[in-house]
Amino acid sequence: MAAAIFAGIALFFSFQGSSVPLSSSEDRLVDSLLTLMTVEEKIGQMTLFTTDWEATGPTIREGYREDIRQGRCGALFNSHTAAFTRELQRLAVEESRLKIPLLFGYDVIHGYKTIFPIPLAEAASWDLEAIERSARVAATEAAAAGLHWTFAPMVDLTRDPRWGRVMEGAGEDTWWACRVAEARVRGFQGKGLGHTDAVAACVKHYAAYGAPTAGREYGTVDMSERFFREYYLPPYAAAVRAGAATVMTAFNDYDGVPATGNRYLLTDVLRRELGFTGFVVTDYTAINELVPHGVARNEQEAGELALHAGVDMDMQGAVFQQYLKASLEAGRVSMAQIDTAVRRILKLKYRLGLFEDPYKFCDPEREKRLILSAEHRAAARDMARKSIVLLKNEGQVLPLSRTARLAVIGPLADNKDELIGSWSAAGSGSDCVSLLEGLRATSRGVLGHAKGCELEGNDRRGFAEAIALAKKADVVVVAVGEAAYMSGEAASRTQLSLPGEQEALVEALAATGRPLVVVLMNGRPLAIPNVVERAAAVVEAWWLGTEAGNALADVLFGDYNPSGKLPMTFPRSVGQVPIFYNEKNTGRPFDPNSKWTSKYLDAPNSPLFPFGFGLSYTSFEYSLPTTSALTFRAGDTLRVSAQVRNTGDRAGTEVVQLYVRDQVGSVTRPVRELKGIQRIHLQPGESRTVTFTLTETDLRFYRRDMSFGSEPGAFDLWICSHSAHGQPVRVELQ
Ligand code: BGC
Repeated sequence: MAAAIFAGIALFFSFQGSSVPLSSSEDRLVDSLLTLMTVEEKIGQMTLFTTDWEATGPTIREGYREDIRQGRCGALFNSHTAAFTRELQRLAVEESRLKIPLLFGYDVIHGYKTIFPIPLAEAASWDLEAIERSARVAATEAAAAGLHWTFAPMVDLTRDPRWGRVMEGAGEDTWWACRVAEARVRGFQGKGLGHTDAVAACVKHYAAYGAPTAGREYGTVDMSERFFREYYLPPYAAAVRAGAATVMTAFNDYDGVPATGNRYLLTDVLRRELGFTGFVVTDYTAINELVPHGVARNEQEAGELALHAGVDMDMQGAVFQQYLKASLEAGRVSMAQIDTAVRRILKLKYRLGLFEDPYKFCDPEREKRLILSAEHRAAARDMARKSIVLLKNEGQVLPLSRTARLAVIGPLADNKDELIGSWSAAGSGSDCVSLLEGLRATSRGVLGHAKGCELEGNDRRGFAEAIALAKKADVVVVAVGEAAYMSGEAASRTQLSLPGEQEALVEALAATGRPLVVVLMNGRPLAIPNVVERAAAVVEAWWLGTEAGNALADVLFGDYNPSGKLPMTFPRSVGQVPIFYNEKNTGRPFDPNSKWTSKYLDAPNSPLFPFGFGLSYTSFEYSLPTTSALTFRAGDTLRVSAQVRNTGDRAGTEVVQLYVRDQVGSVTRPVRELKGIQRIHLQPGESRTVTFTLTETDLRFYRRDMSFGSEPGAFDLWICSHSAHGQPVRVELQ
């Protein structure tokens, strides 16, 4: 059947003669199809609708079925499973006039059914191979369930933990966000589109969605062009360079123009500068939102603005579907613009192999075999262990002894549903291993479990039971944090404390005098100095996904020595936000002895935990860095080295970090900038010389005249354990 569609189209093409430009079979097919399509069918390819959700799984409204049959809708999202996508695909390729296959998208952000840690947690692993593998597993499962396209990676740089979507990205650093973006694109797209274990990536949300004013969701973004190009743009550019097939526009405005109607962003920068050749989809109803943004008088005008800006596909808003033909007839948009968009969309369908076999991704056997397979669960457990960050470990309370009597307390201790976090696709809490289950599977010492309190509300009636249990124990493990719904989209918070009575619970447990191990489960940096002070140990467990409990048990009992480090600064209070390591020095840098310097009256400038920070069960000592030369010039490779020694009595992995500071520039430069990391594994007593290479190109930035390049002069270089550690060595770029 499918081959017949292809052959029919190819045959049709052969009658078109040489008026159609020929370059490849892909172009030939697409161009010949375009000549067959009505305006409505073209606009249909530019239209993406969601299917609905019922307890039994995804469903679809009759109206949308009819849209598919009539060729008025070329792509769907939230439709998954081999059976359901096959049923819908059949409508397109058997009941529509031109039989153009549908494209199925979904938010497969950190796993399809086997859920991996939230992306912010994965970024804390500093392990690109593991991050790529995580995306690979997600793609393999998604593609087996009929999906072609994931709305990921989200690569928005985030410096404000009030914004709920910090959980979806790689944190605050541009260099690291670029590396993670590339790894995720590689992971999703695998050996290439068309393989049945690869899905097309969608880089989002272009652009600068991660910087809403005051951290409030969907808020205005206003920043200098320099700031945008230096910090916020590079991760999108990196994902595009890595081959991401599609890009999603952002909801926010940028410099007064909403991203979805922003020709500068979507055409000048994305297409002309970055060379992006795939298609651009809007975020959910983002074209319609140009009206409340106040840049279009009505939806028809909004659609025109979006098309002129460079949008190819309208997600859910039906603006193109309803108004684009009228705009064409009125001469306000051209057929050439529509054809360009349709061509880009059809090309992706072609590359995925859908014209050859529209059902190639709907294979129930593959779906059954791969989803939640032992191999995928093992990868999720490995990623989860690597994502855990040990923030405090006083008196070496961790790792726990298997014979210690443990009280396991807290609203998240025996919870499964929250563990998959936000954007958990088809994941289900029922497939998760809870912390309590993980601990019980590893040790017989668990005395019992008490919730103590709920995640929210002000009920302390459970405290007494929790305290009584704690008093019987050698060590108290308390799992506290946020509910999954508190991070992700539309989940901004003004408080970064633990909600409800959880901080009071921690205080009450600390008052028993038993050593307290606080396990945090949350989607953002938290400002919890009191909790940290009262705890003997603090373990940042984020939302670790399906294998959370097993991974936590591995770490808490020392079968896995933690090595994660923070990809975002943890503030002491909301008042410090936005707080990030690579700030500028200012003309009056902080001086504790002078009032008239850049500081607060009521709190230190320093964070609760700096960017890049994380402990291990062993300790590492760093020598001062040395360089292969004291001066260097463009074209030279400078080697920067330091000795790192494992000074403890366990083998451990250390994430060694390289930072740079440009002492004098034509514009102010950050006090430190991350330029590289290496994960090294050292046996007790073992030393290793860690060497990074730097060239002049690593020192480039947007200079006073906005040209991108380096400037000669002095640079300080650190090789260190986190962004507030180490002594620099100085070199001169000539
Ligand atoms: C989100 C996107 C997501 C889309 C489709 C929007 O609300 O901002 O990130 O991909 O919905 O679910």
